Amino acid sequence: MTSRTPAPGAPTPSPTGPTGRPAARGGRIPTPAEVAARLRPRPAGQAGGAAGAGAASARTGDASAQTGDAGVCVERHLTGPQRSAAMAQDARRGLTASPKELAPTWFYDATGSLLFEKITELPEYYLTRTERSILERHAGDLVSELASVAQGIDTLVELGAGTSPKSRLLLGALADTGRLRRFVPFDVDADALGRAATAARAAHPGVTVHAVVGDFRQHIGLLPVPAAPAGALVAFLGGTIGNLRPAARAELLTALRSRFGPGSALLLGTDLVKDPARLLAAYDDSAGVTAAFNRNLLTVLNRELGADFDLRAFAHVAVWDEANRWVEMRLRSLRQQTVRLAGIDLTVDFAEGEELRTEISAKFDQETVDKELANTGWRLARWWTDPAGDFALSLAIPG
Ligand code: SAH
Ligand code: TRP
Repeated sequence: MTSRTPAPGAPTPSPTGPTGRPAARGGRIPTPAEVAARLRPRPAGQAGGAAGAGAASARTGDASAQTGDAGVCVERHLTGPQRSAAMAQDARRGLTASPKELAPTWFYDATGSLLFEKITELPEYYLTRTERSILERHAGDLVSELASVAQGIDTLVELGAGTSPKSRLLLGALADTGRLRRFVPFDVDADALGRAATAARAAHPGVTVHAVVGDFRQHIGLLPVPAAPAGALVAFLGGTIGNLRPAARAELLTALRSRFGPGSALLLGTDLVKDPARLLAAYDDSAGVTAAFNRNLLTVLNRELGADFDLRAFAHVAVWDEANRWVEMRLRSLRQQTVRLAGIDLTVDFAEGEELRTEISAKFDQETVDKELANTGWRLARWWTDPAGDFALSLAIPG
């Protein structure tokens, strides 16, 4: 699941990009719907478009032209056919494995991102608000620490940005240095990215937004990099790194390290090991939002792979795996049933009680974060937590 080879026909990033292009100060800020429409992968069959311009149209220039806002551009590495192919491959591999599993990447269509936003507001889901409080409290420390380790951060890259409510804090802190030129939100969901791009432009008209639709398991090597000696701050927040298994985490951190060298830094948000009851409540809330989010994966497969999952026949399950120190999300088949995925010509039998694994969310401590960073070429420079020690932000630099 972690091949880093770009899909055949993946668009080549524009070599120049919008770097340094002055923002159209006072120019019209595109609405979220406009940006999302540009970002949304085209359905298979339309991607070629006139003159077979699939790759070319994914480049940055024409997207900017479409809104007349030179400060927002889009690079798509997951167009309709590529997204379908990647999803098909993940689904086929996962649903024929034992135990069955599905890659969590596909939770996040427009509905999934909205449900996730609701999760972040749940009383049980302490992660988002805790991480935000750490950022609010330590953004100043972060900027001064960066000043001592890097020559000047002119780019903020955010992996799995989503609608990126927390990047506002980072953008604000970095913009105060006067050096910030570019924001690169990167996400698999074009809709969430559209909202992130719009909000960032509205708040920082002097910062160019270069949104990237892609999969961080594959496309790190295609991210824009700052011209030396300037550097990038690469933020990976929300504990999302914990959604990857250890080998995939190492692969991602290594890819980041080879893409972003000296002068750049990594800001990593990790959830910390704690009382399993609190962990489980965060992933099995009383309002049932997490359950709806988990089942949304089946809705996505129904729509995009022509599957016929009956959502009522699967129950949401969250378990704490003490040995691996992760929460595991599953969907339990409530009866013996056969599911057909017509789009990929696959038939899958579920026994009553059989569980499909959909997501892990690994929990860390300082020692494990330190070790995983060190093993992938990074050095932990600062470690911040909230007073209760629920969540941590790590600042790492090339080691
Ligand atoms: N950073 C936000 C959102 C976290 S949710 C926050 O902290 O609140 C995880 C985000 O990662 C979602 O927006 C999802 O769309 C994105 N994501 C999940 N898997 C991805 C992948 N393989 N490549 C790129 N983005 C991914
Ligand atoms: N990155 C989030 C986390 O691990 C993703 C998430 C939150 C999630 N709640 C979920 C994923 C429920 C699957 C199911 O906390």
